[in-house]
Amino acid sequence: MLESPSETGASTPGHGDAAERLISLLGQELVLTGPDVERYCRDWHGDVTTGALAVLRPRDTQEVAAAVRAVTALGLTIVPQGGNTGLVLGATPDRPSDQVVISLERMTMIRRIDPDDFSAVVEAGVILSDFKDQVEAAGLYFPLALGAQGSCRIGGNVSTNAGGLNVLRYGMMRDLVLGLEVVLPDGTIFDGLSTLRKDNRGIDLKQLFIGAEGTLGIVTAVAVKLMPPAEKVATALLGLGALSDAIVLYRRARRECCDLMSAFEFMPPVAFSLAQEAMPDLTMPLAANYPAYVLLEISGSGLVDIDDLLQRFLEGVMEDGLVLDGVIAASRSQARSLWMFREGMNEGQARRGPHLRTDVSVPLSRLPEFVEMAEAALTERLPDCLCVSYGHVGDGNVHLNVLPPAGLAADAVAERIYAAKAIINSVLDRFGGSISAEHGVGRLKRSDFLSRLSPAHLQLLTRVKQAIDPALIMNPGCQLNFGTDS
Ligand code: FAD
Ligand code: LAC
Ligand code: ZN
Repeated sequence: MLESPSETGASTPGHGDAAERLISLLGQELVLTGPDVERYCRDWHGDVTTGALAVLRPRDTQEVAAAVRAVTALGLTIVPQGGNTGLVLGATPDRPSDQVVISLERMTMIRRIDPDDFSAVVEAGVILSDFKDQVEAAGLYFPLALGAQGSCRIGGNVSTNAGGLNVLRYGMMRDLVLGLEVVLPDGTIFDGLSTLRKDNRGIDLKQLFIGAEGTLGIVTAVAVKLMPPAEKVATALLGLGALSDAIVLYRRARRECCDLMSAFEFMPPVAFSLAQEAMPDLTMPLAANYPAYVLLEISGSGLVDIDDLLQRFLEGVMEDGLVLDGVIAASRSQARSLWMFREGMNEGQARRGPHLRTDVSVPLSRLPEFVEMAEAALTERLPDCLCVSYGHVGDGNVHLNVLPPAGLAADAVAERIYAAKAIINSVLDRFGGSISAEHGVGRLKRSDFLSRLSPAHLQLLTRVKQAIDPALIMNPGCQLNFGTDS
């Protein structure tokens, strides 16, 4: 949802004949205008639809550089876009009169998959699941996994430093990037596509662009690490007595399953009905209703007996009463349907209409206490709203979402969303937590980000921005209003 009503609403494109001039500079083939622009200007949930002066769709790095130069020459600004699945309004314009979307959707070449080097070089517009499929066909594995992987694109994953379901074993996108190719705001191409694993020649510049949400340049290609595929994957859905038991279970799994644990996701009981609202064919995997659920995955190759490890681990934790019930997937397709509950939750919530989505992190050991305090405060002050806390508890990252009841007028919904956000953030601040664990800041969280920045932090960010994008053309309004924030 929006931070303030002033951030909503479509505007009429201005800047005279700028769209025509873009066409004359770049050719009709690269430029979309008029109604074709609309689908690039609506966020994934459909909460916000704006507009853009034009959408540019370059096919290679040179065309991206030409597009950036053309936009700059006309005094316009750029909103880069990948799959437009971001959840913080970073990829959708908010000043349609002078913003041009540069979509990377046509840069879909996998330049190289190198099994001997355990690396690949891939263009920014490649859809994550397409890339994973190609890597698998080459006998390797790319571990980034998220519910949006059928639509999000590698350049977007880099620019948001995406997290997802396998972070506790493989890290976030930053940990998977070896090199980047970036078109800078003046049209210069920075070729940093090295696949070297170790390279300490001075400041590691690629890190600046990872998680920058398109505020410093346009990522056009990425060199990434690949992993050997796990030959054996064991997945279990477990019913527990409380979220606090999930953290105790996590600590135990960390020790007993060691580095073989690849996912540890938490879901509340309402997850199942939400997922079924989006995917009615899903059937309940466990008979009873438990207060908390964990989706646990361990995986490995070679001599380790993964099934036996999971079996013995579960026997121990069930004997101790930590896990009340559980189901182990007997096949990959059963594992897939267990994951559908976790992934279908997002669409189920989207179908319930506008709601507050958060993406917070706190120290791992304090996660249950945080959720309990925040939910208690929400229930007391907003008793008609539904709290849905779920996510990557193995990373100390929870999505504490708040769904207003059905049938409310739009302004009553907005009021509850703003109130819920204030309640959650005030509890979060007491825990020293982050308002954005994995989704980024975008336009949605800009004021929450700014109000928590120290003067030194803000000054450093502003200096970096001014050094790389002095004319402030890259994604204005995203993360900060650089230059005017104080
Ligand atoms: P976009 O939405 O197009 O853009 C995101 C930001 O990056 C914008 O600021 C944009 O300007 C910038 N950008 C995009 N491409 C480039 C580029 N080439 N160069 C420079 N800047 C660029 N996120 C997680 O971290 N973990 C999850 O588990 C997760 N689950 C999700 C589940 C669902 C159902 C949905 C809808 C989203 C989920 N997300 C999750 C959020 C989202 O999918 C990720 O942030 C993803 O990395 C965004 O990729 P994208 O290609 O869609 O980027
Ligand atoms: C997830 C998204 C919302 O974890 O980040 O499903
Ligand atoms: Zn998430």
